[in-house]
Amino acid sequence: MFLCCWLGLVALIPTTLSTNPGVKVRLTEKGIEYGRQLGMAVIQQKLGSIKIPDFSGTEKVSPIGKVQYSLSNMHIVNVGLPKSSVDLVPGTGVRMSIGDAFISLNGNWRVKYLRIIKDSGSFDLDVNGLSIATTISIKSDETGRPAVSSDSCSATVGSAKVKFHGGASWLYNLFTTFIDKALRNALQKQICPLVADAVSDLNPQLKTLNVLAKVDKYAEIEYSMVSSPTVLKSSIDLSLKGEFYNIGKHQEPPFSPAAFYLPPQNNNMLYIGMSAFTVNSAAFVYNNAGVLSLSITDDMIPKSSSIRLNTKTFGAFIPQIAKQFPGLMMKLLVKTVKTPTLTFEPNNATVQATTTVTAFAIQPNSTLSPLFVLNLEASVSARMFVSEMKLAAAVTLNKMDLTLDKSYVGDFQVGPLENVFQGVLKLVVIPAVNAQLAKGYPLPTIGKMKLMNTQLDVLKDYILIGTDVQFS
Ligand SMILES: *[C@@H]1O[C@H](CO)[C@@H](O)[C@H](O)[C@H]1NC(C)=O
Ligand SMILES: *[C@@H]1O[C@H](CO)[C@@H](O)[C@H](O)[C@H]1NC(C)=O
Repeated sequence: MFLCCWLGLVALIPTTLSTNPGVKVRLTEKGIEYGRQLGMAVIQQKLGSIKIPDFSGTEKVSPIGKVQYSLSNMHIVNVGLPKSSVDLVPGTGVRMSIGDAFISLNGNWRVKYLRIIKDSGSFDLDVNGLSIATTISIKSDETGRPAVSSDSCSATVGSAKVKFHGGASWLYNLFTTFIDKALRNALQKQICPLVADAVSDLNPQLKTLNVLAKVDKYAEIEYSMVSSPTVLKSSIDLSLKGEFYNIGKHQEPPFSPAAFYLPPQNNNMLYIGMSAFTVNSAAFVYNNAGVLSLSITDDMIPKSSSIRLNTKTFGAFIPQIAKQFPGLMMKLLVKTVKTPTLTFEPNNATVQATTTVTAFAIQPNSTLSPLFVLNLEASVSARMFVSEMKLAAAVTLNKMDLTLDKSYVGDFQVGPLENVFQGVLKLVVIPAVNAQLAKGYPLPTIGKMKLMNTQLDVLKDYILIGTDVQFS
């Protein structure tokens, strides 16, 4: 009974784990530190916008009696946040602490006493030893984008010092006893709501994550998060779908992402791991769209090459062609017969493509007469690189293998044709593929993000892009 349940459970595991991400993004401590600097600039600006309403009151001051006072036109003149830190709280979020902060403000005072005596002047208030602590949680919103919120916040003001300009000296007691406390409270009350504002101001930025990035008229990439962000001891990890789809109709490929784990690197702010699955889902989309084919005519082969697409050149290897189709130009149609597959091994990205090559003679009236069909298996090495916010690649031919699929001109040996087809691949097909791959495929991006110090490594089953970022 127990064994039966256990086996049943084991059988369930693959389906429950089937949402492996195709792409993983890791924000390291260095990245979080950059975020802290950007965050402090925003908070500083927010605190600079604090508005303290005018206020007035009446206090008894001996021996003068009742004094009516009012403060007006108060505004912040300086905010300093000299000390701050951001710490990760595993499983929860981020704790941000600000210490030794100060705010200076300036305003006008006015008093009235003994019914008729009025006086007025200005004052400066320096608030020191301000500390703020807040916890920020990171979740996935309904669109699969990250969203942050300030969950708890506390703000305390250390000391305040008021300096009055003008007025009689006895007034200073009044001010320091009653007024600076009121001012301190008015300030303190506003700090946490402003910090919460600064945190939620991040969300419009996070909403710019390209959860569906258009590539071209055939394909788009889905970069939505497949689970909530994971806060670890020294990084925040995001799991993104990382899957290419046909635009409009989303069909799943017959393969799914394998689990992969980012190495514990932390020299860069950001690491993006892209699995072989993501690239293979692209191949699946383009193969299904029927665009992995190329029609080759003689004008596409450089003039300097001795390979010419005519029945004379091919007649040298297959005499029947020269005899049956004398003096004609030829055309080749190269087409994938199944989805090409890419494999990532350490320092090695290899694509295996199974294609057919159909050769035609072009009749004077433009009719195409089929000559033969070859199976061409090609293995190419890919060099991948990051250009702007895109992943691009260039391939070179490793090896190819030719076999005869069908002949319309009688039997012949394909071996002697190897050099010709290798030349066609190198001179026409690979440059055409590379022109396409050079256009690049969008990486996950947020806002106006620029990459710097970027490097790319090919590891087992995925590529790792390490980069610093800069937001303009
Ligand atoms: C890369 O890997 C492929 C197989 O996946 C292999 O055929 C090829 O020789 C390797 N290339 C290098 C340079 O190691
Ligand atoms: C074109 O020329 C070929 C060879 O001469 C002939 O077999 C074919 O019927 C012609 N096709 C048309 C549409 O005229």
